[in-house]
Order: sequence, then C-alpha cells, then structure tokens
Amino acid sequence: MRLLGIIGGSGLTQYPGLDITEQKHVETPYGEPSAAIKIGTLNGKKVVFLPRHGDRHSIPPHRINYRANIHALKAIGVTDILAVAAVGGITDKFTPGVLSVPDQIIDYTHSREQSFFSEQFRADNHIDFTWPYDDELRETLLKAAADAGLSALDGATYAAVQGPRLETAAEIRRLARDGCDLVGMTGMPEACLAREAELPYATLAVVANWAAGITNNVLTMDEIQQTLAEGIDDVKTIIANVIKQ
Ligand code: HPA
Repeated sequence: MRLLGIIGGSGLTQYPGLDITEQKHVETPYGEPSAAIKIGTLNGKKVVFLPRHGDRHSIPPHRINYRANIHALKAIGVTDILAVAAVGGITDKFTPGVLSVPDQIIDYTHSREQSFFSEQFRADNHIDFTWPYDDELRETLLKAAADAGLSALDGATYAAVQGPRLETAAEIRRLARDGCDLVGMTGMPEACLAREAELPYATLAVVANWAAGITNNVLTMDEIQQTLAEGIDDVKTIIANVIKQ
C-alpha cells in the first residue's frame, strides 16, 4: 500500500478539503520538522500533509529543517512525496499561472544541510542524482493533470536559490544562460534528501510570477500571492486525481 506525503509550499500552508484525523509531533535525530505531520483523508484516501514553511508560514526557505521533514515523513510511513512549489518563470513557456512538472535541478543554495550521512559517511552513500525527480511519480502527475483537462508542462530545469530575497535581474540572466526555466527557493536539498531516504519524489510547480527583470514590472508579493491562489486550485484538482490513480 502506497501512502502519499504532500509537502505544501507558499500558497498551500493549509490544505482545505483535507479531513485531518491526526496530528503527529515527530521527533527526529535531526531536530523538529516544520510542523506537526497532518494525517487525514482526501477524497476517501489516506494522505499525509506537511506545510514546509510551518503552520503559520513563519519559516523562511534557508531555515527549513529539510532533513527533519523528510525523515519524519519516512518515519510515519510515507512511501512517495509530492512537493508543491511556487516558482518564478524564466523562459518563455513558463508564464505566470502555468503548472510545471520539472525534470532537472541546478542547485545554487549554500550552507544548507544536504545529507543524512553528514555525521557518519560511508563510501556507498553517494546517491545517483542524474535524474533528480522520480519518473513514475512525474508521469502520475502529468496523467492526473491531463485527466482533469489541465495542462502541466512536462520537463523544466528548476534553479534552487538561497532566498529569502528575490533575485536580481543579472542573477536571473545567469540562470537563463545556465539553462534554467524556473526559479524557487525550496527545491533543494529537499529533493536529494528524499533520494537519500529512497522515497520517490516529484514536484508540481506553480509559476507565480515572471522572474526578476524578465518584464519591466516590479515584483510585488500581492501579485505573486494572487496568481498562486488561482494556481493552487488546479494543484488541488491534480492531487485529487493522483490519489484516484
Ligand atoms: N524567485 C524565487 N522563488 C520564487 C519566485 C521567484 O521569482 N517566485 C516564487 N518563488
């Protein structure tokens, strides 16, 4: 039996529609996860939910205890992780409001704890990360979107940046030259820790805004949040279909 764990990002701190039956405070060897783990039912199926930034969205991206989050989800019996993420769009196709299932990552973050094996490393702890997202889970997401009549773009390179500030125009030009399509602050080390924990992991990204300098507009959090709120409805429809599959 598979048990889906949903990690909610900006715009999905609460999960309206999730009937929470239990909240578990999980202690881990790495400290505390972002919040109590919510166990509940969605469309009649058991799922697990964890808001990445905490219950009140008070934990910034560089302060999230990614190790504790992944460890806690695994400890509770989660078998697959679906990460929901807000991103900025860099390349043409990724206009605000678009949904994306990325297939690659470039990691620009620093000073984040990257590994469960930092304290006790063995030669065979180097994970293969050629394809950072789980192929089967990506396909499940794409099929769930198609079944709902929603378009989710298949494949994108996600730039994981440190935050919490947004980027400069020159930084975004560099990411574009590097081949990045999307920019977000939380994709790493979440993805590589899931791989270390042997949990299939895929991301459903919502483009909340054009990345800095792509248009002449100044980025405002009001606008970003408005676009996100609209996109999250589609995300929830897709997740409902994932659960049905
Ligand atoms: N940059 C980084 N992270 C983001 C953005 C952005 O423009 N939009 C939403 N998350």
